[in-house]
Amino acid sequence: MHKTPPFSVSRVGCAIVLALMSTTGIVTTKAHAAGANKAAATPRVQSNNTTAPDTDLVRRIVRSLEQTNPNARSIGLPSPVTDADFRPLDPAQVELGKLLYHDKILSGNYNISCATCHNMLTDTSDGLSLPLGEGGQGLGPARENGFDDDAVHERVPRNAPHIFNLGAHEFTVMMHDGRIRVDPSKPSGFDTPADEDFMGGIDSVVSAQACFPVTSFAEMAGQPGENNVANSVFSNNLPRAWAILAKRVALVPEYAQMFIEIYDDVQTNNDIRYHHIANAIGAYESAVGRADNAPFDRFMRGDTGAMSMNAVNGMILFYGKAGCAECHSGKFQTDHSFRAIAMPQIGPGKGQNQPGYIDGLDDLGLGGETEIEEDNFKFRVPSLRNVALTGPWGHDGAYATLEGVVRHHLDPVNALYNYDQSQAVLPDAGSLNTRDFLVMNTPDRVEGIAAANELAPVNLTETEIDHLIEFMHALTDTDSIDIRHAIPMRVPSGLPVFD
Ligand code: HEC
Ligand code: HEC
Repeated sequence: MHKTPPFSVSRVGCAIVLALMSTTGIVTTKAHAAGANKAAATPRVQSNNTTAPDTDLVRRIVRSLEQTNPNARSIGLPSPVTDADFRPLDPAQVELGKLLYHDKILSGNYNISCATCHNMLTDTSDGLSLPLGEGGQGLGPARENGFDDDAVHERVPRNAPHIFNLGAHEFTVMMHDGRIRVDPSKPSGFDTPADEDFMGGIDSVVSAQACFPVTSFAEMAGQPGENNVANSVFSNNLPRAWAILAKRVALVPEYAQMFIEIYDDVQTNNDIRYHHIANAIGAYESAVGRADNAPFDRFMRGDTGAMSMNAVNGMILFYGKAGCAECHSGKFQTDHSFRAIAMPQIGPGKGQNQPGYIDGLDDLGLGGETEIEEDNFKFRVPSLRNVALTGPWGHDGAYATLEGVVRHHLDPVNALYNYDQSQAVLPDAGSLNTRDFLVMNTPDRVEGIAAANELAPVNLTETEIDHLIEFMHALTDTDSIDIRHAIPMRVPSGLPVFD
């Protein structure tokens, strides 16, 4: 690979590398704390250019940065991720969660599991811009709309996010609009769409999230009239929907035995509640999703050979001139805030409306949740861990390439106006297709999205853009590239796993 000499990284400033020296212990060659621990369980693939820490190289980089920009101290790299950043997990719960996550028993019509949309074969997402949920057939980009009355009724209006690193303490807000979050002021400890109907006994926000896909008609519940889960949701009785599903699981002897062994408060299968299910799923997601051994992590822990020079250049741009770390800061490249960056809006929307419209085709993001106009079109700043694996990108998967979504950031409003609709990864869904681009084809709605933009354009050369993208690739945990081992061969209900 072409190596750029260290002095070419000098345009941003010394801050980054000074931060490197103080926070990562590069210069003193500190241990790979978390990496070493995780490696004990799973053998790690080494990156091609992993060498002994090259402290000389770092010193040279520091010196050249210091010479050219002594004032850039404000931009800091995060400190390396460690075990302490993650919630402790019970391995038995993780195993149970692995089965439940892949078991269609949790869907109203026994035909879709969490893994349909967050599949290990497609890096815990589905490879589509927008999922085809309940009623669809097949997996990943080959998924189809299904047949007749059972066919999908509506595309799921947002991109299925990956589940990487959600077991880290700092992830306290879930979903593109933040509608599920830790909230100590609530009796359950969580603010969720179920409000006071939400259950107790949930141990983390990722487990809290696992209570909701099963109550969504489009995702897992199916249509009212088709089954008693969907009927309960339709009559606004979420607790009954959860109770029905818990009962289904409790009636499978193999599951019952596992719950009895794992949970102190489960003596017989009659004691199984949905929060036991959700906590197991959350534990599995947290375990399989942990992804903190990317070249970037190894670099941060002192292995200066772990990233190519181009990626180092990209990192310096990311934390410097390109301004990415204004939002993508912290150990997981997100500050967990909500920002409007003029992302194109494709798909059927969230049933929300920009002023002047009543067709429900808009997705107002955070504004749809808070009903505060200034929050319109703000979406969660996503973590960029494993981002090279998890396309399509954006809250609705508008961008089919990583390069596309990175370039969007460099000139958001222009990118919005020049959005190429042909890249959307939307399998044919018959009559549903007609709704896919209605917003983008209505100029004043696009203007509404543009007007909310808060991301200033930034000028980068083509080489700099390449380096930035190479840095994005350096955020890929080599263990996450193939996670087929996290798929069970069978599930206790006997329902199919591999379709
Ligand atoms: C039909 C596809 C589909 C199915 C099935 C599905 N999800 Fe999702 N999931 C999504 C979509 C779409 C979102 C984002 C929704 C939003 O932000 O409005 C999401 C969001 C999430 C998130 C939040 C991630 C984050 O970063 O905020 C988690 C965790 C998750 N799902 C786990 C699950 C679990 C567990 C199940 C099974 C109980 C499940 N999903 C079933 C499509 C699906
Ligand atoms: C003003 C805050 C902000 C800044 C600055 C910013 N981003 Fe983002 N970024 C976001 C938000 C918000 C999203 C999600 C938007 C959405 O889903 O609609 C996002 C999404 C992304 C995605 C897609 C992630 C995914 O999983 O879909 C990538 C890649 C990305 N940003 C990279 C960058 C890079 C590289 C830079 C610097 C050039 C940058 N961002 C600067 C706020 C920001």
